[in-house]
Amino acid sequence: MAVPAAAKVARALAVSAAVLVLLWCVHFRGGLSLGSPTNKGLIFNVHPVLMLIGFIVLGSEAIMSYKILPWSHDTNKMVHMLLHSVALFLGSVGIYAAFKFHNESGVDNLYSLHSWVGLGTISLYGIQWLLGITTFFFPGASPTVRRRMLPWHVRSGLVVYVLALLAAELGSWRSSPSFRPAALAGTARKPCW
Ligand code: HEM
Ligand code: HEM
Repeated sequence: MAVPAAAKVARALAVSAAVLVLLWCVHFRGGLSLGSPTNKGLIFNVHPVLMLIGFIVLGSEAIMSYKILPWSHDTNKMVHMLLHSVALFLGSVGIYAAFKFHNESGVDNLYSLHSWVGLGTISLYGIQWLLGITTFFFPGASPTVRRRMLPWHVRSGLVVYVLALLAAELGSWRSSPSFRPAALAGTARKPCW
């Protein structure tokens, strides 16, 4: 089966975004480390890299799997499930990195729109994953229940996916040097990030 043109474009954009976020965090911001005792910025850097490459890129690939992979429905389902599982795991580690950075740098947790949208999104993603596993994989629901659940799974899956894109956009915007509303208003109590 030929890969549709739209999927090729989506993959090219995903690779470009992955290269850019790595370039930004590794080359311009000094690298990645979950346990740096002195440079706390390295702990933060894990967050955008894992959220983008782990959560968004792998999540997108998982959603496209039924449409672009050449294998049987059952194999594509396994790939869909595994990619979503890895995306959820890496996304959770990425969020842990953001909290660890805040805690070790004395910055408040959950003070931005991005952080609440992000936390809500990963929670919904976890629920979607759990329902997907139990309905379509293990233990698996009856054929009638699966048939009824499928349209709901597809719709809610797309909603959660769009929310994840929104969270990543808000996060990238938060990280922009031009985003300093508290500093501009002269009310900054903590570093903006
Ligand atoms: C879907 C993807 C993402 C999710 C679910 C997410 C989630 C979160 C959460 C829950 C926090 C709060 C941590 C705390 O309060 O201790 C946070 C913080 C942060 N994230 Fe993300 N994030 C995502 C992507 C990104 C990306 C791609 C960037 C940057 C390019 C980014 C930049 C930030 C920044 C600067 C903070 C600290 C400031 C703040 O809380 O707004 N995030 N993120
Ligand atoms: C957060 C995780 C998940 C999201 C966001 C998600 C999202 C989606 C989306 C958008 C589709 C439609 C794909 C298409 O039209 O080609 C879909 C289909 C499907 N998903 Fe998921 N999914 C998730 C997890 C799971 C899990 C864990 C399973 C368990 C095996 C699963 C099983 C399925 C099945 C069986 C289909 C139907 C494919 C078909 O017959 O057309 N999903 N999912």
